[in-house]
Amino acid sequence: MKDNSAKRASFRSSFGLLVALAGSAVGLGNLWRFPYLMGTNGGAAFIIIYLICIVFICLPMMISEFMIGHASKSDAVGAFRVLAPGQKGWRVAGAIAVLCSLFIMCFYSVVGGWTLDYLFKSLGMAFSDVSEGQCAGIFTSMVVSRWEPVIFMTVFLAVSGLIIWAGVEKGIERYSKILMPLLFVIIVIIAVYSCLLPGASAGLSFMFSPDFSKVNGGTILAALGQAFFSLSLGAGMVLTYGSYVKEGENIPKMSLLTAISDTCFALLAGMAIMPAVFAFGLSPSEGPGLVFIVLPEIFSKMVSGDIIAIAFFFVLFVAALTSIISMLEVVVACIAEEFRMKRGAAVLLTLAFVMVFGILCSLSQGVLSDCLIFGKNIFDLFDYTTSNIMMTFGGLVVVIFVGWKMKKPDVFAEYSAGGKFVHPVLYKVLYFLTKYVAPVAIAVIMVCGLIK
Ligand code: TRP
Repeated sequence: MKDNSAKRASFRSSFGLLVALAGSAVGLGNLWRFPYLMGTNGGAAFIIIYLICIVFICLPMMISEFMIGHASKSDAVGAFRVLAPGQKGWRVAGAIAVLCSLFIMCFYSVVGGWTLDYLFKSLGMAFSDVSEGQCAGIFTSMVVSRWEPVIFMTVFLAVSGLIIWAGVEKGIERYSKILMPLLFVIIVIIAVYSCLLPGASAGLSFMFSPDFSKVNGGTILAALGQAFFSLSLGAGMVLTYGSYVKEGENIPKMSLLTAISDTCFALLAGMAIMPAVFAFGLSPSEGPGLVFIVLPEIFSKMVSGDIIAIAFFFVLFVAALTSIISMLEVVVACIAEEFRMKRGAAVLLTLAFVMVFGILCSLSQGVLSDCLIFGKNIFDLFDYTTSNIMMTFGGLVVVIFVGWKMKKPDVFAEYSAGGKFVHPVLYKVLYFLTKYVAPVAIAVIMVCGLIK
């Protein structure tokens, strides 16, 4: 077994690790996808199913992914070489997870570019005086244009590249420590402001009084897919960050805290958006345009809307940034370690790939919109394959590996940090969820998703 721990980078503190994990988890998934999925899937009932998925499926999976990284101290491909020597299949699965992160980056960076564009637009007071329906026009003309989104995407990627180049402690940890608490404070302020608007209570009751008549198979699928995406599971992120964690960390506790932060953030984003949507008499079921079309319209009508718009798009941009750096780290760590390449070179190589496919994804909203593969444009194809197929597959592999391949005493030793923490009952429940509940649930949902 090769020992990587001596020369390996690591997070300096538990708080640094937590904000880095939360930085990855909190992203466009929470602020853009969660509110519109909740809006189109019946509000509170969706939230309840989402929470059930987090506790019973995603949390055991996150802990498992964390353990694989921590036990192997290696990148997502190398981890399986260390833990299952000579068994190539697992390594292939690791490589698929790395590719998944790479592919997510291709469309995520496009939306990241949009957030930066909107931050600049709001700084230039673009939404201070818009009339009804004008915001849809602003959004459409931005996404279909050739240069504008590509330029912002390039800047977005360049910033993430610089942070990753700086390394784990001096890059990821340092910036997450400053940015994540800041985001939290801003989103709380916006949520409070939104909840105090006259007529906001309708938005809150939409979020918190469940109507189960709206629930169907599609809702459950959407909730699980969202839980996966939001916690950045099945794409090697938790594994890679886990490999930078020193001995003695409480892995189940860290995973739980990450899941709690991520869920709180999603709920806060909902509380920032839904009450305002209802207060201004707009529809919560607008779909993907909710954040980019409906919100700017609301900001234009709100008292101090200009400032709230700047704050909101700043949050959106930073959340997207701390998420994309985590995907970049997965790929860069893998290339640098597997091919013994310098970190800087690995960053450049990865970004070059993402630029090419990111540009294609961006253009697929406009000039290339007729170029369809399996009936989907390039952007949707990347989104669909990663979110619905590759991440689910990655998650399944991880729980099967920990539940069925690793030895039980080793798994329990990882849960308890070698006996440092003692929660025998909890560990048994966790192991049962990992070994039986999570794989079966994911397999069923995956099959339903594919035949749908
Ligand atoms: N969790 C992020 C979000 O909610 C998305 C994300 C970041 C991600 N890193 C990832 C998804 C790695 C999958 C894999 O926006």
